[in-house]
Amino acid sequence: MPTDRRTILVTSALPYANGSIHLGHMLEYIQTDIWVRYQKQSGNLCVYVCADDAHGTAIMLRAQTLGITPEELIADVKAEHEADFSGFHIGFDHYSSTHTDANRYYSELIYSRVRDAGGIAVRTISQLFDPEKELFLADRYVKGVCPKCGVDDQYGDNCEACGATYQASELKNPKSTLSGETPVLKDSQHLFFELGQHTDFLKEWTRSGRLQPEVANKLAEWIDGGLKSWDISRDAPYFGFEVPDHPGTYFYVWLDAPIGYMGAFKEWCDAHDFDFDSVWSPESDAEVYHFIGKDIVNFHCLFWPAMLHQANFRTPTGVNVHGFVTVDGRKMSKSRGTFIKARTYLDHLDPEYLRYYFATKLSARVEDIDLSLEDFVQKVNSDLVGKLVNIASRTAGFISKKFDGRLSSELANPDLVEAIRAKGPDIREAFENREFSKATREIMALADDVNAWIAEVAPWQLAKNEATLPDVQPICTTAINAFRLLVLYLKPVMPMLSDKVQTFLQVDRLDYESLNHTLLDHQIEAFTPLITRIEMKDVEAMIQPEVTEIKDTTQTSTPSGIEPIEAECTIDDFAKVDLRVATIVSAEAVEGADKLLKLILDLGGEQRQVFSGIKAAYRAEDLVGRQTVMIANLAPRKMKFGLSEGMVLAAGPGGSEIYLLEPDQGANAGQRIR
Ligand code: MSP
Ligand code: ZN
Repeated sequence: MPTDRRTILVTSALPYANGSIHLGHMLEYIQTDIWVRYQKQSGNLCVYVCADDAHGTAIMLRAQTLGITPEELIADVKAEHEADFSGFHIGFDHYSSTHTDANRYYSELIYSRVRDAGGIAVRTISQLFDPEKELFLADRYVKGVCPKCGVDDQYGDNCEACGATYQASELKNPKSTLSGETPVLKDSQHLFFELGQHTDFLKEWTRSGRLQPEVANKLAEWIDGGLKSWDISRDAPYFGFEVPDHPGTYFYVWLDAPIGYMGAFKEWCDAHDFDFDSVWSPESDAEVYHFIGKDIVNFHCLFWPAMLHQANFRTPTGVNVHGFVTVDGRKMSKSRGTFIKARTYLDHLDPEYLRYYFATKLSARVEDIDLSLEDFVQKVNSDLVGKLVNIASRTAGFISKKFDGRLSSELANPDLVEAIRAKGPDIREAFENREFSKATREIMALADDVNAWIAEVAPWQLAKNEATLPDVQPICTTAINAFRLLVLYLKPVMPMLSDKVQTFLQVDRLDYESLNHTLLDHQIEAFTPLITRIEMKDVEAMIQPEVTEIKDTTQTSTPSGIEPIEAECTIDDFAKVDLRVATIVSAEAVEGADKLLKLILDLGGEQRQVFSGIKAAYRAEDLVGRQTVMIANLAPRKMKFGLSEGMVLAAGPGGSEIYLLEPDQGANAGQRIR
């Protein structure tokens, strides 16, 4: 453990200003906040900044739909986000927005330095343009017929039916999802950051010990595949910063978003009379860490360090990548009610439960983290209530009732307290290395030891007898001192609990400098319950499936790709779909189509040929003989590979995650499903 006071700037990814914070996001802010609180507790100067990511087409369009200005929209959302974060005790030193003067300043500065160093190319590109909205259309705002397989209603970048990827301009019969109009091709000048110039720098940078090994390996694949130039501009109208030397052209939201880390920090520096360059100059010995999710690695570990490097700023000391939150083993889902907003959680449960639970699951690896609701209830109740707080609740009462709230001047078991102290270095190393699950495990193992000792000496027995009553005070004093140390260790995870304990124990600090203190001959407050058990019914109340949600095409899909529920349909609409049990009699790969399997389906006599985009999920030979469900009255579709006479039903986001529907045993081929 270094003894010098470190200067550390820490960031979490900037949440988009077009949606609410949910528990997936919270994993990141909780992970970062625990690490920051640990650094502060250790006496380092640690500054934690974040901001709303306020720019982009989606925000502009959403504001239009709501009939307000983008500035009003982002102000409202920022207030909501800040309330959510403070509800979870995320202790930002400063929370800003990317739409600020400070961020504009650094965006222009970095752009101009990169440009002057020869890092920007200007090229004319041709894109689909909505003549009615007078807007260039990003891929998600165009739909049309897939140029490869002919299926309609596909987005501008890839086909969900056959998995093909293409340019939006290749779609047949394209339509703007914003106006329904047919878009036209239109030329405009775009600015490109020449990432390829930095190939050698990035090869070295990504291997310099700043990244988790699995992240560095993934990046090596991308780098070896050749780094393409990155389009950093968007045409007007756009909500963002106009490029100084290209009127009518704006910085792409992902250009000024990471620079927003600097913008937010600059505002903090101005408010605290702190020298910005002492952290961001290439010679700085301050540390800079970004905490991010695995979906935004390319922005943080390729574009960002390359731009900083070319613009003569320092690069981050580390980029710490975490995985995604799943609920009960599955992607968060609106229809299952597991797409839980931060606010919904706060309406039902104590934020520190989730902080603790996430801590018990977090390591330095890029693994997905499962919020298993039963495990959550069980762990919180057993660890926090049953182990940790139990130590105080079964001993503090004697101190108040029998000894006027005064701790004894000696410990009954100094070795026990010393053993807890001796674990300090291990626990600290675990926090430092973001191995929070290890830290919490060690803390709970110590709590077990303390409880076992209390059970053995049984102060409640000794208190019954006048002769042994005096022994109760040093026993309970030992337990209270043990409790103080455990809460000190847990303080970064549970800051509110630790505040309550400070009041209860009448101590003004629970940091590492106070680790060696022992509370002797010291007055404490009466014990009040510090934490209550979670009831499964509170958790269930929080899970509220959203039954109807109308598609709002102006909102981008969430990063985890949750599909909104379709608009309501009537029973008559539904009755038009003839669903049948079908037996798969043959399945084979289709030459020239990497996603498709050709299935022959038996409907109890009649056979149908169906092309289905499930090849990544199933081996053809495993499907033969299985039953599934098909739409039997779907209009036949002529495909490049032959006629497709229906469709099989499957669930899942796509790729290898596709789950074919199967009727229960006893169903016969051809039977209608109702
Ligand atoms: N605005 C960008 C980040 C810009 S940083 C210069 C963005 N915003 S986001 O709101 O989509 O995500 C914010 C952070 O939350 C990202 O690090 C993202 O990985 C993380 N998460 C979003 N959904 C998540 C889960 N379901 N699980 C874990 N983290 C998730 O990306
Ligand atoms: Zn297709």
